[in-house]
Formats: sequence, C-alpha cells, structure tokens
Amino acid sequence: MTRKIILDVDTGSDDAVAIMLAALHPAIDLVAVCSVKGNQPLSSTTENSKRVLDLVHSDVPLYQGCKESFVREASPWRIKFEDRATIVDEEGKEHFIHEDFDMLPPSTRKIEDVPAPVFYVDYLKKAKEPVTIVAVGPLTNIATALSIDPDIKENIEELVLMGGADDEANASSSAEFNFFNDPESAQKVFQSGIKKITLCPLDVTHKAMVTKDDCRRFAEIGTPAAMFAVAMCEKRIEVHTQRQPLTLPDACALHDPLCVAYLIDPTVLTDVRYLHLDISLSGLTDGATIIDHRYFQDNRNVYIAYDGDRKKFVDIMCDAFRLSK
Ligand code: BDR
Ligand code: CA
Repeated sequence: MTRKIILDVDTGSDDAVAIMLAALHPAIDLVAVCSVKGNQPLSSTTENSKRVLDLVHSDVPLYQGCKESFVREASPWRIKFEDRATIVDEEGKEHFIHEDFDMLPPSTRKIEDVPAPVFYVDYLKKAKEPVTIVAVGPLTNIATALSIDPDIKENIEELVLMGGADDEANASSSAEFNFFNDPESAQKVFQSGIKKITLCPLDVTHKAMVTKDDCRRFAEIGTPAAMFAVAMCEKRIEVHTQRQPLTLPDACALHDPLCVAYLIDPTVLTDVRYLHLDISLSGLTDGATIIDHRYFQDNRNVYIAYDGDRKKFVDIMCDAFRLSK
C-alpha cells in the first residue's frame, strides 16, 4: 500500500533529500510539493525545489506558498536568528548549509497558479480520502490554510513535522529553526485539533545521523539522486563538524527526509512519546517547544520522536536512490 502525501518544504539541503525520497520511493504517492520561505527566501526555496524535482524526473505539481511568516516580520523587536551555519573553505569562501542549487540546471518547470495555502484548502475540501501532510519548513502555509478553513483538518490523516527540540536547539539558545522562524504558525498547528501529529525534533534527527561511510554507500549507487545526496551530506558534515559536532565523528543530521522515512517504515523512529506541546511566543525562548512530560497531562496533542534507527534510515534512502535515472 502506498501512502499519499503532500510535502511542504523550504528547500534547503535536507529538504532536497526529502523531495527525492518522496518522489522516488515506491511506498510513497507524492501528490504535490509546496514551497515556503525558510532556509532561503521563497524565490530560492521554490527554484531549488523545481531543480530537485527535475533531477528525479518527477512531474508532481509544485505550489508556491508564503513569502513571510505569520507575524514574526511584523515584530522587529523579537530575538534574532543566531547562527547562519556557515563555513569558510580553504580559499576563504563562505558556504551556507543551505545554498542555491547552482550545480543543478535552471528549471523551466511551471509552478501552479494558485498559492499553496489555497491549494491545501481546495484539495482537502474535495479529497475523497484523507491525505498525509509532511511539513519540514516553517508552518506558515499550513497555518494559513487552517486560518482560511479550520475544517480542512478533517481530511488530514496525519501531519508529520520536522521542527522543535526538547533537549537541543539550533536557531537560538532554546529554539529550533523551523519553529523559531514562525512560532505563531507552529502554535496554531499544534492547537488545531488535527487527528494525529507526529514530530521529528532535533532530539531524534541528531541521532539518526548520516556519516561519511554512508555517503560512500550513496556514491556507490551512483545515480543522480544518490550523487546529489552525497553533495548535500558532505557539506552538512563539514558544517556540523565545525559548528555543531554530533555524537559520531564525520556525521551530519539530515533532518527532513527522516519524516518521509517514518511513513515508509514507522520503525525508523524507535522512541515515540505521546505528549502535550506548546510553542513559546515571546522573549528569549521565542519559538521554543514547551513539552509537558507530566504523567497526569490529559491534553496530549503530538507524538514526539526521541530516538531513531539511523541504519534503517540510510537503507531506506539507498532503496529510493537506486530508482533514480
Ligand atoms: C530544520 O531547519 C532547516 O534549516 C532544515 O531544513 C530543517 O528543516 C532543522 O532545524
Ligand atoms: Ca527544511
């Protein structure tokens, strides 16, 4: 049985691998891709998404979404993003972990003529069967769609998210990038009453790592998708090594495809807890996840993954990359 999904991305090095995995793996039926501002301005996340879809010869429709977060841009006094995750190479050139995909040919693909939030509303209102949404950037498109019509939640089978952190952080001292960039949207989504939300925070993505040895496995596969994944991972490994070392040497987190891998094989997440989560909306903890671990909490709204099987994760990606032509 294939799982029907819509993928919401801010492409982005790890988003790119999520797109390739979703487009190539036979267990996933990719209905549409929606872009949102996040790792880059919207024009870049859209163009990057187009180029990756071209690379894997996918004709899935691409909807361009929100250019700005819900209210963050309107609140200039809020704390700023602390780490652009850059490295300087031997020639003194600075590289960002999420750059424009200049190594891929420019795309002539057309984007659909309705904005992503409108697509969500139309699609979900008419859908004959519920669909799963995988959102791996700021949640602006999803929150906007829910603001237009909260009833669309009835047709969302599951919402799988990359974002937040319990015991980690990367955008500020307490917040993860996706939720930090649009905290109001994230809070709206967690309060929406969507039937099932599954969250892959930094706690699990920093454990389900990809190493240089795994890159060698991708390189042996040698297909266009595998080689592009190698390029993305090698840069990420460099950035992690210099700025955010993980528990294994020569390794990187590859956050976003883990959400897709979970839909292919749920056992890739090994410690999942049903808890209540809110998002901090002000001050030094802006965008941080506030997770209630109290036993008597009876208002649980999210399944949170704390650990994962990194070998299984890499195997799943290898299976997909072998199918790239
Ligand atoms: C998340 O933020 C983005 O930079 C990545 O694409 C990922 O979705 C990790 O914090
Ligand atoms: Ca992302």
